[in-house]
Amino acid sequence: MTLPLPDDLLKVPHRRDVPFARLTTLGVGGLCRWLFEPTTEAEAQAFVRACAREGLPWRVLGGGSNLVVLGDVDTPVLRLALPKTVHREGTRLTAPASHGHIALAEAAAKEGLSGLEFASGIPGSLGGALRMNAGAYGREWVDVLARYRFLTPEGELVDKAPEPGEFRYRWSFLTGGRVVLSATAQLAEGDPTTIRKQVDDYREKRGTSQPLSKRNAGCIFKNPPGQSAGRLIDQAGLKGLRVGDAEVSREHANFLVNHGHATAGEFAELMDQVRSRVLEVQGVDLEPEVEVWRG
Ligand code: EPU
Repeated sequence: MTLPLPDDLLKVPHRRDVPFARLTTLGVGGLCRWLFEPTTEAEAQAFVRACAREGLPWRVLGGGSNLVVLGDVDTPVLRLALPKTVHREGTRLTAPASHGHIALAEAAAKEGLSGLEFASGIPGSLGGALRMNAGAYGREWVDVLARYRFLTPEGELVDKAPEPGEFRYRWSFLTGGRVVLSATAQLAEGDPTTIRKQVDDYREKRGTSQPLSKRNAGCIFKNPPGQSAGRLIDQAGLKGLRVGDAEVSREHANFLVNHGHATAGEFAELMDQVRSRVLEVQGVDLEPEVEVWRG
């Protein structure tokens, strides 16, 4: 990429040559050559504005729980490092996009607020969860979303309520250079014991049906309408399929796990193999839920 980067960009807190293995839950990937970590919304805005002005491509990274990175990435990467404070107003909770998603669900439970129990086992950042409208057990983010703030690709700050068409199953329009800054969830007063029990039940259910003891990136493929990607992969006989140290989980076929020394290339290769085998055997072309970045 063209160097040097402009001065106003370099004023935003950043680190050089950070291994993606430390930035993603799969623990694989090359180097992040430029990792920008703004600690305020204004710094995030300065980053986006400078990149837009210079015509610089860039990418946004959240908790790294849904990402495979192939090779080193030279383009600047934005990862928000906003203070992780949760603000309560009535039965609404507002948190910055960089807040841990599970930690936010825990905070809601502690406040005796119901509505985010579904989120209690979904890793990553709040921003990432909103960006992909994360969900579990029949609930998803848009069900509780009251307002959200984001930056446009030009760096304008927008604060709004969600509108039809902006969020669908595991999809939102918050891609293509838009950066989620914060979200406000509309929750309801609930009985703390009941909320706690629901959170624990969901966790236990995930713990028994998903391979959470090994490094993973959650579900690899989206569920096709009316079907389960996990069941399709399972029925195609692919549990245990392995490329190097990357394996289709024997516990849940829509998870790929790292047995210790897997590489990003092995994960990408395994995803390709699963996708083409399911297309061959079941006639269904699975759409990845996980993002693959090619450096
Ligand atoms: N199944 C199999 N074999 C498998 C896995 C699943 O036959 O290897 C069957 C199950 O027996 C069940 C059906 O497939 O009848 C659905 O499985 P499950 O209940 O595990 O739910 P899922 O559709 O595979 C979805 C989300 C998960 C979320 C769970 C729980 C997607 C792609 N996945 O999984 O989210 O945790 O429901 O609500 O929407 C994620 O998005 O990263 C994720 C893990």
